[in-house]
Amino acid sequence: MSQTSFTLHATDGAARTGVIATPRGEIRTPAFMPVGTAATVKAMLPESVRATGADILLGNTYHLMLRPGAERIDRLGGLHRFMNWDRPILTDSGGFQVMSLAGLRKLTEQGVTFRSHVDGSKHMLSPERSMEIQRLLGSDIVMAFDECPALPADRARIESSMRLSMRWAQRSRDAFGDRPGHMLFGIQQGGLEPDLREESAKALTGIGFDGYAVGGLAVGEGQEAMFACLDHAPGHLPVDKPRYLMGVGKPDDIVGAVKRGIDMMDCVLPSRSGRTGQVFTRQGVVNIKNARHQDDPRPLDEACSCPACRGYSRAYLHHVFRAQEMISGMLLTWHNLHYYQDLMQGMRDAIAEGRFAAWEAKFHADRAQGDI
Ligand code: GUN
Ligand code: ZN
Repeated sequence: MSQTSFTLHATDGAARTGVIATPRGEIRTPAFMPVGTAATVKAMLPESVRATGADILLGNTYHLMLRPGAERIDRLGGLHRFMNWDRPILTDSGGFQVMSLAGLRKLTEQGVTFRSHVDGSKHMLSPERSMEIQRLLGSDIVMAFDECPALPADRARIESSMRLSMRWAQRSRDAFGDRPGHMLFGIQQGGLEPDLREESAKALTGIGFDGYAVGGLAVGEGQEAMFACLDHAPGHLPVDKPRYLMGVGKPDDIVGAVKRGIDMMDCVLPSRSGRTGQVFTRQGVVNIKNARHQDDPRPLDEACSCPACRGYSRAYLHHVFRAQEMISGMLLTWHNLHYYQDLMQGMRDAIAEGRFAAWEAKFHADRAQGDI
C-alpha cells in the first residue's frame, strides 16, 4: 500500500483538475504552493497560510541544511513539528539554490561542494545527501537532485547538464528507496530544446517517479519561450502523475501553465511582493506605495474576502507601508496569497465544469480594464 495517490477528476483541453492524496492531507490540483524557504512563509502564521486556502507548502533543502541544520530539525521532531504546519510539505533538493546563492561552487559527477551564503562554511550536496536531508526534514514530496543551467546557455551545455541530472535522478531514486506515504518527483531538464526535453522525459519515466517536475524554466527565457516549451514538454510526461512547474510565476504565467497541463506550481512572488508593496488584484498589479492611494477609502480588491480587504482601506495600507510598520508585510502577504489561492480555486472549478476557456477570457479581460 503506497498511501499516496493522484486522481484526475476532470480535464478541459490540456488543463486538468484532481487531487494528490497523502497521509498528511489532500492537495487539490492545480495547486499553488506558497514558499516557506527558512521554515516560515515570511510574515504569516501557518494557520493564516492555511486560511488563504493552501494545501501544501514548499521548503528548501539548501537553506535548512545551512540553518538550522537538517539533523537538528530531525532531533526536534521534523520540519512539520518545527514550523507548526501539519499538512503536506514539498522540499526542493538544493542544487538549484546552490547554483543561484552559494559561493565558490565546484560541480563534479559526484555532486557539488560550495560555501554557505550565510557564514562561508563549506558544504557538500549529492543525490544521496539531498535524499538524506529531505528524509530528516520529513518532507512529503521529495525532489530529485538536479542541476539547472541559467539561460541563455549553448546547446552543448544544456545537453550535458541534462544528462548529468538524469544520472543524478537515478541515484536519487536509488537513495530514496521505498518510503510509503512519501513521494519522489523527478525533474525534467533540457532548456528550450524540444528533443532534449523529450530525452529527459524518457529517462525519467524509465526510472519511474511518483510525479514529474518541469525544471529549468523561468530562468530568464521570457513568457513566450516558456509557453512554447510548455506546449510540448508536459506532453512527454505520464498523464496519470502530477506535473509540477518549478518556480513559476506571475498570475498570467500560472494561468498559461495550467492551460498547458501543469498541476502544481510554487513562487516567492506573492509573499515577496507583499513585503515590497506590490499587490495582485483581479484588475492587475497595484503598487501600494503610490501617493494616489493615500486618501482612498476602498479596499485593495472589492471582490476579495481576505482580512486585508475586509478590514482596511488602501489609505491605511499605504500609510503602514510608508511607515514601515510590520503589519504592512503581514496584510499584503495575506492578500497576495489569498489572491493566488482564489485564482487556483477559480481554475479548478472552471476545469471541473468544462468552462476553462471562458474563465481564461474573463481573467484577461478583467486585467485589461486597468482601473486600479
Ligand atoms: N526551481 C526552479 N527551477 C528549478 C529547477 O530546474 N530545479 C530545481 N531543483 N529547482 C528549481
Ligand atoms: Zn484581499
